[in-house]
Amino acid sequence: MLTISTIFASLLALSTVTVAIPARHADDPGPNSGIDPQGILGYGTVPISWDLPTDLNNPSAGTITVTGTVQEAVAAMETAYPGWNATFQSKLPAPTVEQQEDGDDTSDLGLFSFPTRESFTCDLPYVQASKRMIWDGIRYLRTLSCSAKNGPGSPGKGNCGRVSCSWSAAIWWCNDNNFEKEVGWNDIADGAEFLCRSDCVHRKKDVLGQVFYTDKWSVTVRHDQNNC
Ligand SMILES: *[C@@H]1O[C@H](CO)[C@@H](O)[C@H](O)[C@H]1NC(C)=O
Repeated sequence: MLTISTIFASLLALSTVTVAIPARHADDPGPNSGIDPQGILGYGTVPISWDLPTDLNNPSAGTITVTGTVQEAVAAMETAYPGWNATFQSKLPAPTVEQQEDGDDTSDLGLFSFPTRESFTCDLPYVQASKRMIWDGIRYLRTLSCSAKNGPGSPGKGNCGRVSCSWSAAIWWCNDNNFEKEVGWNDIADGAEFLCRSDCVHRKKDVLGQVFYTDKWSVTVRHDQNNC
C-alpha cells in the first residue's frame, strides 16, 4: 500500500524542516506564484482508506473499504451501490454563506482546540486553492465523520495522504510520527477550517497553508491538479 515517490524519498530525512522551505512571502498573493508539485514536498504519499456503510440509512448493513480522496470514495460507493451519492448528498449540511461566498469568515474556532494546534504557516511553495472548494471538502469530511480514522504513518515516517480534492482544491494530512496514527476526519476538517479562517486566506477567496498539531501531524490546504 505504501507508495513513496522516488523524488520525495531522498527528502524524507528533511521532512521536519518542511516549514523552512523558502518560498514567496505570505503577503505576496498571486494564485499562480507557487509551483504545483504532486504530493507534499519532503514527505511520502500513502493512499487513504475509508470504511463506508453500504447503506447510509442502515449502518448495520455493513461497510466496505474504498481508497482515494473523499470524492473518489463517494464515486466508488455510487458505482457499487447506485443511489448512494444521492443519499450522501441529502445528508450534507447546507453550505453557510461563509462557505459559499468569497466573503469574510467571521467566526473563529476559538483559542483552544483539541487536538492542540502548535503553529501554522501560510508560506508554502504551492499554488493557492479556492477557499469555497476547500469548504466543500470540509462538509464532505464532516458528513463521513462517523467512519473516522486511518491514515499515513506506517511503516515510514513523514507520510501524507490526500483526503479531499475537488476542482483542484486539496486537503492533505501528514503524519510526522514513525507509527501509524489515527486522526478523525473531523479533526482534519477542523484543521482545514482553521486555515480557511486564518491569515492564510488571500483576497477573501483563495487559501494556502499548513497547520501543525502538538501530537505531530498537520493539515495542508493547497491547489492540486494531480487527478483532481
Ligand atoms: C454526487 O452528487 C453531486 C450532486 O448531485 C454531484 O455534484 C457529484 O458529481 C456526484 N458525485 C458522484 C461521484 O456521482
